[in-house]
Amino acid sequence: MKVVYLTQPGKMQIEEEPIPEVRPGNVLVKIEYNGICGSDVHFFKDGRVGDNVLKGKFVLGHEVSGTVVEVGENVSGLKIGDRVALEPGYGCGKCEFCKTGRYNLCPDMKFFAAPPVRGALQEYVSHPADMCFKLPENVSTMEGALVEPLAVGLHATGLGEIGLGQTAVILGAGCIGLVTLLAAKARGASKVVVVDLHEKRLEFARNMGADHTVNASKNDVLGCVKELLPEGPDVVFETAGSAETIAQTPFLVKRGGIVVLVGMAAQSEITYNFFQAMEKEIRIQCVFRYRNLYPTAIAAIASGSIDVKQIVTHKFSLEESERAFSTVVDDAQNVVKAIIET
Ligand SMILES: NC(=O)c1ccc[n+]([C@@H]2O[C@H](COP(=O)([O-])OP(=O)(O)OC[C@H]3O[C@@H](n4cnc5c(N)ncnc54)[C@H](O)[C@@H]3O)[C@@H](O)[C@H]2O)c1
Ligand SMILES: [Zn+2]
Ligand SMILES: [Zn+2]
Repeated sequence: MKVVYLTQPGKMQIEEEPIPEVRPGNVLVKIEYNGICGSDVHFFKDGRVGDNVLKGKFVLGHEVSGTVVEVGENVSGLKIGDRVALEPGYGCGKCEFCKTGRYNLCPDMKFFAAPPVRGALQEYVSHPADMCFKLPENVSTMEGALVEPLAVGLHATGLGEIGLGQTAVILGAGCIGLVTLLAAKARGASKVVVVDLHEKRLEFARNMGADHTVNASKNDVLGCVKELLPEGPDVVFETAGSAETIAQTPFLVKRGGIVVLVGMAAQSEITYNFFQAMEKEIRIQCVFRYRNLYPTAIAAIASGSIDVKQIVTHKFSLEESERAFSTVVDDAQNVVKAIIET
């Protein structure tokens, strides 16, 4: 099979390797799509994400879907020909976090493209069958690869307790901001204001259901939001991952509201006005990936309550992987989600 290796920052090379053997409890999946995510791009550009530094060549890709071509021993519920979305991470199954269903917090989590675990930018992958979710007829395999980022938006809006009639501000209209918007609207939010620095991104947000958008490069964000929502939004989602937007959250949110921190800033310590937070009695909720949400995400796509495929702006073949990543780096404003077809 073909495997796409990142050999050094900015360089990718396709190599031939044997197709993996199917372990008991696993299925062999012929990979069809890999979405390119911000973390993959950090590895591509800099050879690292935070303290996670690549040593030697590495396979990226964790937003994955495909078709089952072989079924291992002790697998029930999946058969050859089933189209599936692969949840990229699985816990140890034994620790407190796994046992309480919060497997995203498992300290021994194995997650595609989180070193030392390699990713799925290759033709075949052997993966635990219980982490492969069957796609219904009316959900395409391309949509299957988008379940991963959508799950982040669903988890963020779940922890932010977005419900019918609630109002929200989303800071950042990248892929994660946009899936948060889709999830918030699907959960019944009445008014969602999306903030970004780039008009192009805001246009995407409006097309995906944002009620209002604010261009932070030209406007006073706090003032604009105050005009639109005088008491402040019930929930503020920070999905830009910048120190500046994180610092805005306690000033924006309604008294007694919830701040959901999804973006990961480059610096680990950030100035934050806790007086605002205390006086307003706000709740600060952090988000790390997602848990138990693949079935919900797939059902929401199948029923039509979330149209996730609109986030895809660019498509490439496996052979074009290096160009796909360079495009994401060089044309960041225009690329919301690029996907690679195997
Ligand atoms: N918590 C998690 O589990 C999780 C999962 C996935 C991604 N993330 C993080 O979410 C963040 C967003 O990911 P993405 O893929 O959407 O990235 P992205 O770079 O595509 O999107 C970020 C957006 O924020 C905008 N932005 C930057 N500074 C801003 C400012 N001052 N005001 C308003 N907008 C601003 C940018 O223009 C961009 O459109 C990243 O930090 C990523 O690491 C977290
Ligand atoms: Zn991702
Ligand atoms: Zn565990």
